[in-house]
Amino acid sequence: MAKVALKNLTKRFGNVIAVNNLSLGVEDKEFLVLLGPSGCGKTTTLRCIAGLDIPDEGEIYIGDKLVNDLAPKDRNIAMVFQSYALYPHMTVFDNIAFPLKMRKLPNDEIEKRVKRVAELLRIPHVLNRKPGQLSGGERQRVALGRAIVRNPDVFLMDEPLSNLDAKLRIYMRAELKRLQKELGVTTVYVTHDQVEAMTMADKIAIMNQGVLQQVGTAFEVFNNPSNLFVAGFIGSPPMNFINCILKEEDGSYYLDAGAFALSIPISLGKIINEESSSSEVILGVRPEDIIIEEKPAAKNSIRAEVYVTEPMGSEIVIDLKVDGEIIKVKTLKELKLNIGDKVWMRFDENKMHVFDRKTEKTIV
Ligand SMILES: Nc1ncnc2c1ncn2[C@@H]1O[C@H](COP(=O)(O)OP(=O)(O)OP(=O)(O)O)[C@@H](O)[C@H]1O
Ligand SMILES: [Mg+2]
Repeated sequence: MAKVALKNLTKRFGNVIAVNNLSLGVEDKEFLVLLGPSGCGKTTTLRCIAGLDIPDEGEIYIGDKLVNDLAPKDRNIAMVFQSYALYPHMTVFDNIAFPLKMRKLPNDEIEKRVKRVAELLRIPHVLNRKPGQLSGGERQRVALGRAIVRNPDVFLMDEPLSNLDAKLRIYMRAELKRLQKELGVTTVYVTHDQVEAMTMADKIAIMNQGVLQQVGTAFEVFNNPSNLFVAGFIGSPPMNFINCILKEEDGSYYLDAGAFALSIPISLGKIINEESSSSEVILGVRPEDIIIEEKPAAKNSIRAEVYVTEPMGSEIVIDLKVDGEIIKVKTLKELKLNIGDKVWMRFDENKMHVFDRKTEKTIV
């Protein structure tokens, strides 16, 4: 059993608060991804769990044990970094065997374990080579091998795939996920790549400026983002945001964006009215939840001009211009559109998000 729990963790560097009052639980055998933009405190959080950084405040538990005062080597964790930090003069075998030799395991036991790990990672044929004679993906797997060879309670991985080319990264993503499930080792994995996070994680923890924003499955953070930051960070292209004023007229509600106004159901208008700190809100619509049409629908169609089209193979992203603002639309349909064409667009009413402009919290 090795769950990991962080309680009110804070870490400062001078007057930078790298991690700000972070509380987070990772279940036994779970694959948790820490996701956020550069500088949001991911590596610092990982280093605190590993014992490489000492938190200013808060508690770190591995299993049920408080580990704040344990040295890194006594925490039974294995860490994989972005730079694999292999020993260049040692063979792959010796690189993987290194942590076991440090622990003075008998030679036959070391041999057995290294071979097993090499099989698992599908690199038994490179055991006699030096790291310089390996491809990026093989080197990556050697670094993983060195981490898993000693049955740690927890894996800590800091952007381990970021040095690989796109194709290899996608391959290793799946391999790593399968391996983690096979080994059943609790894992905290750091990335700033939302696609990597979505595809690999059991649970994603999204951070911004040292503060935890939301924890949830890929489905949850995508469909029910808790605030404007998460909504804008998850999804590609990102969610469109439109500043609006909630207006009421004769019992009907509208979201007035200046260039257009959308009539919304009374029930929705009432919720926004009650929960928003003012009438100033932000409407959020994902590119995939916008419909492009040649003719206006009965209501809420918006006139727009094609600014540019971005074909991506299976889908196409169309940038539409409405009153000087660009709105991105993603569609699977083959639309023959040219720059300057006039079209109508409509937001899927059931997929609209509304945020409080002041607090940036999700209203619906
Ligand atoms: N040793 C240090 N001394 C001073 N400031 C630091 C130190 N380490 C990190 N910081 C600062 O703490 C904040 C968080 O850094 P951290 O490395 O945890 O970010 P990150 O989320 O891992 O970013 P990236 O995605 O770029 O790796 C940043 O503002 C960074 O400049
Ligand atoms: Mg980092």
